[in-house]
Amino acid sequence: MFCIAKLYKILALRPNLRYFRSHKSTNGTMALILAFAGSNSKTSVNFKLVEYTTSMVSGHEVELLNMANQFFPMYSEDHEKEKGFPENVIQLKEKITKTDALIISVNEHNSGPSAYFKNLLDWLSRLDRAYMTKTKVLLMSTSPGKRGGTSAHEFIKNSLPRVGAEIVSTFSLPSFYTNFEVDKGIIDARLSQSHKEAVDEFLAEI
Ligand SMILES: Cc1cc2nc3c(=O)[nH]c(=O)nc-3n(C[C@H](O)[C@H](O)[C@H](O)COP(=O)(O)O)c2cc1C
Repeated sequence: MFCIAKLYKILALRPNLRYFRSHKSTNGTMALILAFAGSNSKTSVNFKLVEYTTSMVSGHEVELLNMANQFFPMYSEDHEKEKGFPENVIQLKEKITKTDALIISVNEHNSGPSAYFKNLLDWLSRLDRAYMTKTKVLLMSTSPGKRGGTSAHEFIKNSLPRVGAEIVSTFSLPSFYTNFEVDKGIIDARLSQSHKEAVDEFLAEI
């Protein structure tokens, strides 16, 4: 009796308590996957890579978010104290908290993640320091350059586990405009194979 009453009370207070999510499974249950690029560009190459990657996923529910439609004010402690959290940051945090797994591809600006994405991560971490707890992540990056955004990729790979993420597989696509075509996907055979392996590894974990 005590336990049931207490449970309802906890649920009422914390409707997003992670233990009560339709839970993560590595054994065939349908997972909820959220996919987005760390870029606010309408022509984002990372979004194209994410979109292509989601087309390879079946048997799970996938939500693809286009961040070009999402404006987030620049984080400042003053803004947080005086105006609170932007509604779209709260909504995105709720979405991530309810998600089993994430497919993310990050862009690179001046050898690091774009200010846009870093700013978003700063906002999210202020709402909840563990908002990605137990969330499995396929982390990718791409850029027109030969390194494929690997500096930004490394930064994010080190940063997301601090908010609880489990990076289960990774992929970087160099020279996007040489190696990718919108209607064909990754056209270089070796890179296409590594990308497929990364996706398979991710799917095997969720
Ligand atoms: C301010 C700025 C800095 C950039 N710095 C880098 C860089 O350090 N490394 C890189 O590979 N590409 C760099 N680029 C090129 C981006 O990779 C390219 O614009 C790419 O399309 C960004 O990804 P997105 O289209 O997904 O936003 C830079 C672009 C801008 C606008």
